[in-house]
Amino acid sequence: MSCLSLTPLLVLVLVLGVSLGAAFPHHTLRKDCSLSKYQTIASEEKEAMDKMRQEFGNDHKCNTRLFHRKWNAVNLPMSDRVLLVVAELNLTTAMLELPADPSFAELRRQPLKFFDQARADVLGCVDPAHQPSGRLRHRLNKLQEAMRTESTECLRASTIVNVMHVLENLHCAALRHKC
Ligand SMILES: *[C@@H]1O[C@H](CO)[C@@H](O)[C@H](O)[C@H]1NC(C)=O
Repeated sequence: MSCLSLTPLLVLVLVLGVSLGAAFPHHTLRKDCSLSKYQTIASEEKEAMDKMRQEFGNDHKCNTRLFHRKWNAVNLPMSDRVLLVVAELNLTTAMLELPADPSFAELRRQPLKFFDQARADVLGCVDPAHQPSGRLRHRLNKLQEAMRTESTECLRASTIVNVMHVLENLHCAALRHKC
């Protein structure tokens, strides 16, 4: 008897839950997505990146603003954040794995390994049905345009200068509402 009277309430809760979920499609991520391991980033990883940035990051080869500093992931809805991080990680890994001098090859080894793994993890979070917001689409178009028009040296230099920024955006995506 009491079970029966609970049923309409349960149905109501389910319907509400489903419709609320549908009302916020921008917050959907794939269910098997887990970025929790990036909520804390080991200091060895940060130090390795920072060392690479200090020794090889130079901005003089170009003035394109590939990684806009005003553009923090925190201002974006969650699934937009993930797309931004994917785009930044795509570029970062592509640039870090280019053929390089032995001295750079040594310094990039650990950061590249980290970013490759992060890229695979973040790609696993992308909901294929998610449409980026207008702001993000504009940003992604700019990034793609720069990748087509700027020289490889320019792209690589700006990527190295901005590795800590990419790491911050990844961290922010992993922290979700706590970012
Ligand atoms: C990142 O790379 C993946 C696979 O290489 C590609 O499917 C995806 O469209 C790229 N994403 C962005 C936002 O550049």
